[in-house]
Amino acid sequence: MYTSSELHRLVREHRPGWTLAQLFYTDRDIFEVEVERFLGPQWMVAGHVSEIPNHGDYFVFEALGASVIVVRAADGEIHALHNVCRHRGAKICEQPSGRASLLRCRYHGWSYRLDGQIAAWRHMPEHLNKSEHALRRCGVSIFEGLILVSLMPEKAPDPAVMLQHVRPYWSRYELAKTRTAAIRHYRLQGNWKLGIENNLECYHCLPSHPEYTTTNAFVRADEQTSETVVESFAAYRQSWEERMRAAGTLTGRSEMITTGGQPCRAGTWPLAPGKLTGSRDGQGVAPLLGRVGGYDESVTTGCIGFLSYMGAMCDHAVQVNYLPQSVDVTLVVLRWLVRADAVEGRDYDADNLCWLWDETTRQDKSIIELNAAGVGSRGYVPGPYSNLESMTQDFVDRYLKLMSEPA
Ligand code: FES
Ligand SMILES: [Fe+2]
Repeated sequence: MYTSSELHRLVREHRPGWTLAQLFYTDRDIFEVEVERFLGPQWMVAGHVSEIPNHGDYFVFEALGASVIVVRAADGEIHALHNVCRHRGAKICEQPSGRASLLRCRYHGWSYRLDGQIAAWRHMPEHLNKSEHALRRCGVSIFEGLILVSLMPEKAPDPAVMLQHVRPYWSRYELAKTRTAAIRHYRLQGNWKLGIENNLECYHCLPSHPEYTTTNAFVRADEQTSETVVESFAAYRQSWEERMRAAGTLTGRSEMITTGGQPCRAGTWPLAPGKLTGSRDGQGVAPLLGRVGGYDESVTTGCIGFLSYMGAMCDHAVQVNYLPQSVDVTLVVLRWLVRADAVEGRDYDADNLCWLWDETTRQDKSIIELNAAGVGSRGYVPGPYSNLESMTQDFVDRYLKLMSEPA
């Protein structure tokens, strides 16, 4: 395990504005320090309430070396319970999702109620008290229908404090009245920070994301590909701002707030002229969400903590999670949300709905894995960030601050 003085030396040697030293991306002990200090308490989006609508519905959420059963009890409450039997530690739920009236361990048959309390065990000594052997609980909080889970709730900040800051950006989409239309998993061979660094900059968008670049006019404007591009985007943005203001819709970006080491921010900006949403032809792909009155060419994005991100367009939302499994494997999980009453085949086509972010995520997986391969090789030395990577730099600064704090 790294001593704090070794960590301090690594942090001290960091050159501001440059990428991290190799060990931060490759070292198992550093990963353990991250989990202990700030990843464990992190609020992560585990799912959406629509994925477990009925009593007994559950899914298994896996991150940071933990397996967690997220289950709805008879009273409607959602519990997040470590998927580890309190007898000798066998895994209880073996399927990624399902329905159960009791959670039963297959090894010796102990069973648990949906709130984690022991329902039955056999031949256990008299002096043992069932109530002391309930499944271990994780923190659960619901934000706009999203189920947030913290593996170390005692160290986690009050989610209400961080979320009230961004609620005004999300409220018009009424995400609590959506349902999950699709979930896709992308296994990333690379450290979780390489995924976040990639997510927070669009320096790579022009060379790597033709579909995203066509949908989002800011990419070419930020790249200043020509004077005409910059001027026409400025004019478009101004007229879009006026339209949004007239409709009473919030635009611009919130401050980044950090609560207990967990960042949170949101913002709304225009797509490209004529793009109603993120789709192949720029036309709508699903019924308008919540209180969105009509297509206004906007997109709202933001983060909840370091690991969960969200993007909403007028007719669907895409929720993105980076779930570190180990120092060099990150599971990226995307879920697409549509209005709760939307019917597949009638109101939307799943392939059409998923097209933009599936393409973009597969492209990202490929470049992040290239990044991981280079960063892990002997020839790697830190390199300088460009002017278009300021949010990535900001992430690295926040990360180093957390790593340099006393344990
Ligand atoms: S390990 Fe679960 S009942 Fe024994
Ligand atoms: Fe990307």
